[in-house]
Amino acid sequence: MDASQVSQVTEMMYALRNPAGVPTYPIIFIGLGVLTFALHILFVQLMLGTSAITLYGAFNSNPYWRRLGAAMLEISKVSVSVAIVIGVAPLLFVQVIYDPHWYTSNVLSAKWVIAFIFILILAYWAMYFYYFQNGKNADKTVTPKSRWSMIVSLALMLVVGFIMHSLTTQILHPELWKEWYMQDGVLDYSGSQLHAYNPWRFAFFISMAIPVAGGMLVTYRRFKSVREDADHDYLNWAADLGKKWIKVGSVISAALYVAWMMNLPETAGDFATSFWGYAGGIAVIFYALWAMIRLKGEARFCSYMALPMALVIGLIVAVSREMLRYGILNDFFHYDFMDYKVVMDWYSTGLFFLTFAIVGGSVLAYFLTIAWKTGQTVGVYTPSAAVDKMGTVAIWIMVLWMIQFFVIGFWIWAK
Ligand code: HEM
Repeated sequence: MDASQVSQVTEMMYALRNPAGVPTYPIIFIGLGVLTFALHILFVQLMLGTSAITLYGAFNSNPYWRRLGAAMLEISKVSVSVAIVIGVAPLLFVQVIYDPHWYTSNVLSAKWVIAFIFILILAYWAMYFYYFQNGKNADKTVTPKSRWSMIVSLALMLVVGFIMHSLTTQILHPELWKEWYMQDGVLDYSGSQLHAYNPWRFAFFISMAIPVAGGMLVTYRRFKSVREDADHDYLNWAADLGKKWIKVGSVISAALYVAWMMNLPETAGDFATSFWGYAGGIAVIFYALWAMIRLKGEARFCSYMALPMALVIGLIVAVSREMLRYGILNDFFHYDFMDYKVVMDWYSTGLFFLTFAIVGGSVLAYFLTIAWKTGQTVGVYTPSAAVDKMGTVAIWIMVLWMIQFFVIGFWIWAK
């Protein structure tokens, strides 16, 4: 591309930018975008990895695999909900900060964006169908029913992920948007195509499900081992499997990361050999080394670090992924999200952070306490007075939040 073509693309992107500006500093949006993407992809990987274990367990007659498959279905079911809920957050941030790119990419593949929701619903239903068919089995070693539905669920989840991947990849090619829109002199309004993808990049993000699920297995042993009815042979078997998955999976993922870096578009320049280019790959391989050193034997303390470590590694990869986007759009195409017009709105910025910390914090603390205690109790769990109080406080905080929301809304409306 020559300089005049690049400057046309730059102008096009700035022309598409929302003239209303953004309500706080762009760096805050991007920071939150990276953080929430790391959380989203961690739960996506946890969901995919534990679904794969469920599926393998369903087709394997080994009683340990069967039990593990049933146990991991519980994790997968929760992870898919968390992945979806946390997926909304990076969606909001990316559409604010990269609005010309996100909306163009979505409009170019509009049918897929709409189909995304339906495919996701089907995938979710298929997983629950399998769960309702088998969840009540007292004996977890019997052959599960309707195994096909778990295959359908996992396959559709991958399609959903691929749609997201394609939308993200299309963002990186503003030089091709017009070509995609006008093919052979005919305008294509259909939105029926996914125009860009990078199989290595997609495979990398999906493959991280192996070490992340490994981290979950190590955590699972630690969590269940304190129960009076713990079957230590089975739990040790699961944790050993987890350690293997972390080590082997990290190596596979690191290899795919290298393949991704070797297949970047030309507009990325020398990103692959830059600091952030290396950092993502080194972080992934570091997980294997960490597991070899810190997860030896029973690793009573470090077992609980396996998933937080995966999050830290995911965060480094998320920064590297964002630096790649910035490198292409700013360094090559001269579109800098940092020069977005800021129309400072302290109320909404403050409300966001306070909601996150106080409303989110109190509700999450209550839910996590209940989930933790239930998992470690044999038989029926009855919450203590203190835990009950946590729940009441969380509800009151939510009620107060809603009251302030309507009061401020009416006040502004009446002004
Ligand atoms: C449950 C199935 C899902 C899977 C398997 C999945 C998978 C993925 C993957 C692999 C990526 C990385 C793409 C890349 O960088 O190449 C991604 C990014 C993303 N996903 Fe998901 N996802 C799922 C659901 C969702 C949902 C329900 C939402 C939103 C409501 C969502 C929002 C996002 C966003 C906003 C990004 C980042 C976009 C960007 O930064 O350009 N995802 N997802």
